[in-house]
Amino acid sequence: MKKTCIIYGSTTGTCENLANRIAEKLGINSNDVINVSNLKAEVISLYDNFILGTSTWGSGDLQDDWYDQGLKIFKNNDLKDKTIALFGCGDSASYGDTFCSGLFELYDTVKQSGATVIGSVDSDDYNFEASSAVINGEFVGLVLDEENESDKTEDRINKWIDEIKNKL
Ligand SMILES: Cc1cc2nc3c(=O)[nH]c(=O)nc-3n(C[C@H](O)[C@H](O)[C@H](O)COP(=O)(O)O)c2cc1C
Repeated sequence: MKKTCIIYGSTTGTCENLANRIAEKLGINSNDVINVSNLKAEVISLYDNFILGTSTWGSGDLQDDWYDQGLKIFKNNDLKDKTIALFGCGDSASYGDTFCSGLFELYDTVKQSGATVIGSVDSDDYNFEASSAVINGEFVGLVLDEENESDKTEDRINKWIDEIKNKL
C-alpha cells in the first residue's frame, strides 16, 4: 500500500471512531489520521492516497468542519495522481431522504480535481428513501449507520477494505 492518509469530519465522534477503525484494519498509523479541522494544505503533497470521511448534517450537508478549509484544499489542488476512497455515516431512519447525502459533495469535489475515486458500494443493502450520494445504484463510497445498523458496521467495513486495499 502506498502512503495513505485518512481525513475525517465529525461533530459527536461517530465518524472519528469509524476513521480509527478503518485505519487500524488497514494498518495506518494514528499520525496519518487527521481531523479535517486541523488539515493543512501541505498534507496533499505528502500522500499518494486519501480516505475521506464525513457525517451528514443539516439536510444532506457535509459535516461543518469540511466547509472551513478542507473542501477548499481538495478543490484547489490537482489530484490527478491521487487515489481517493470515501466513507460516510448518517441516520437512515430519521434522515432517510438525505441519507449520507453529504458524501456527494466530497465525491464531486475530488472528481473535479482529477482524482481516481475507488470503493463505491451497492445501495441495495441499505434501507433509505433517497440520497444524493447514490449514482447508478451505488453509493460513491462506504456508508455506515451507527444509529440503526451498528451490527452491520464490522462486516461492511471488512468487505469494503477487501475491495479497496489492493488499489491503494
Ligand atoms: C440535526 C441533525 C441533522 C442530521 N442530518 C442528517 C442527514 O441529512 N442525513 C443523514 O444521513 N444523517 C443525518 N444526521 C445524522 C448524523 O449524520 C449521524 O448522527 C452521524 O452519525 C453523526 O456523526 P458525527 O458524530 O461523526 O458527526 C443528522 C443528525 C442531526 C442531529
